[in-house]
Amino acid sequence: MIGIFDSGVGGMTVARAIERLCPGYPLLYFGDLAHTPYGSKSPETIVEYSRRNTEFLLNHGAEVIVIACNSASATAADALRSQYRTPIIDVITPATSRAVAVSKNRRIGIIGTRATVRSNIYEERIREINSRCEVLSQACPLLVPLIEEGWLNKRETKMILRRYLYSLRLAQIDTLVLGCTHYPLLSNLIQPRIGKRVQLIDSSVEVALHLKSFLDSRPDLQEKIGHQPAKNRFFVSDSTAPVRQLANRIFGRNIHLKKAHA
Ligand code: DGL
Repeated sequence: MIGIFDSGVGGMTVARAIERLCPGYPLLYFGDLAHTPYGSKSPETIVEYSRRNTEFLLNHGAEVIVIACNSASATAADALRSQYRTPIIDVITPATSRAVAVSKNRRIGIIGTRATVRSNIYEERIREINSRCEVLSQACPLLVPLIEEGWLNKRETKMILRRYLYSLRLAQIDTLVLGCTHYPLLSNLIQPRIGKRVQLIDSSVEVALHLKSFLDSRPDLQEKIGHQPAKNRFFVSDSTAPVRQLANRIFGRNIHLKKAHA
């Protein structure tokens, strides 16, 4: 099984992209809604939650782990890789490669949670690929709660977005990384506010493409995961009505969320 975890429902944008791009592989999802948001927690806490989530997925038969959360990828990926032998795929590496590949003026914007922006990981990774890139980051801590409340098209959400994107717009970036797996749900509002010439990089699509090429290169792993009519399972550590609605909206069908503790 492909194990996927996030602090909440944002990682379902990743699960959905994986379902589309790697059809047939069974998915096992864990959304740690009881502890969301991770983005405003300390690094120690994020690492601890990420370990528990990984254990949960491994105990339920995951053969590969996708960290479908930028905050956890930025803070806990190294700790998890040093602890577990199972392949661990983070959501940041694929998005940075794509951003550098598409940017023409080498001015790249990043939006994410406080934890992701504080870690500076996007800037470091982008500059490792091309040291001439300029990276401008903006933490957007209000967006995850708005999304989880289902405020995807409200006036207040649009106003807050305009405010967050203002300095990036002035800086004339030509590429903007949606550095939080919740943000693809707002891409229709983000695009007109950052400018239609700015290319949006959706980390959920990039990680799914990366996973596909990783699996293509590992027939041994493909066999273990089992390429069969997919039976996806979704677990959450807490569940509310807006979250259930959002899950259904992301997948375009009814998603059964089972309650469990990591
Ligand atoms: N989905 C998480 C991310 O990609 C953000 C949610 C949170 O802060 O927990 O960073």
